[in-house]
Amino acid sequence: MIPLATLSTLHYQLSTINYYNIVFIFKNPVLVASGTFGYAREMEGVLDLSRLGGIIPKTVTLYPRTGNIPPRTAETASGLLNSIGLDNDGIDDFICNKLPYLKTLNTKIILSIAPKNTEECPVFGEKLGLAAGIDAVELNLSCPNVSGGVDFATDPKLCEKIVSTFRRVTLLPLLVKLSPNVTNIADAARAAEQGGANGISAINTCLGLAVDWRKRCPRLGNGFGGLSGPAIKPIALRCVRQIFKAVKIPVLGIGGIETIDDVMEFFITGASAVQIGTANFYNPTATIQILDALPNALKELGAENIAEIIGTLEM
Ligand SMILES: Cc1cc2nc3c(=O)[nH]c(=O)nc-3n(C[C@H](O)[C@H](O)[C@H](O)COP(=O)(O)O)c2cc1C
Repeated sequence: MIPLATLSTLHYQLSTINYYNIVFIFKNPVLVASGTFGYAREMEGVLDLSRLGGIIPKTVTLYPRTGNIPPRTAETASGLLNSIGLDNDGIDDFICNKLPYLKTLNTKIILSIAPKNTEECPVFGEKLGLAAGIDAVELNLSCPNVSGGVDFATDPKLCEKIVSTFRRVTLLPLLVKLSPNVTNIADAARAAEQGGANGISAINTCLGLAVDWRKRCPRLGNGFGGLSGPAIKPIALRCVRQIFKAVKIPVLGIGGIETIDDVMEFFITGASAVQIGTANFYNPTATIQILDALPNALKELGAENIAEIIGTLEM
């Protein structure tokens, strides 16, 4: 455990001023990324969930989805290729069967949702209005395995439209998760900010392909998939830097993060918080190791809190 005195220096505010004047406070800036931590109950007993700054459960859609045909994952050099296809039981099931457990955890719960179109936004909004215990929403506009979803992140106009539509149906803090599979991620970030986002989560997976040459077929049932893990960290750092320079709202860095060194690289580059993804699969206590190491890493830079170092990369 981090001693209380140290915790208070880590006390951490991800705040942004837009016309809703929403202030979003995490107890610390280390969160777990959607799709890599189940609905948290799966990790009970493996680590103290109350230590986490926040949990972003697997993305839910309005209606249940069966996902893509298997195999859905393939290991690659320093990475994992996946094509899950947003397999989930829908938002009603989430609210009835998953949220009650998540609410008992002493950490922020950020609901990840993937609306298919703008028409679904008010329906999501209504359901959120009736469900207590969700602290924020992350709009997943960037799943490369689902047609419909990726379009929002690749076209800035569509991105702004869906964000502003969603902005009108909830007062919850709104994060927008972007795709690296675009020519200019800064344009998408600006569009999300313009639409009323309170923060940008970056990045989702990078579109890739793994091949079995003997069988002359892709290694994933769906063909293409999304690459994650250490292999994508340089891409994620590049994206975070570009977004940090383009918008005023905070950036949550994601992509290949496992160690305290990775986390510090993201803070210096411009992230205000981080999400740990694929590392949860091969090092399920990575988040705790990072939290334990954070005070000393800050001390090494002569900093008392994270705010002092965010974006201080000389570049
Ligand atoms: C198996 C798997 C499932 C994922 N499912 C989701 C998802 O449902 N929603 C989402 O926004 N991102 C999802 N992601 C993307 C991660 O949240 C994260 O953005 C990405 O993997 C990059 O981070 P990492 O390299 O630390 O894993 C998934 C990633 C993996 C590996």
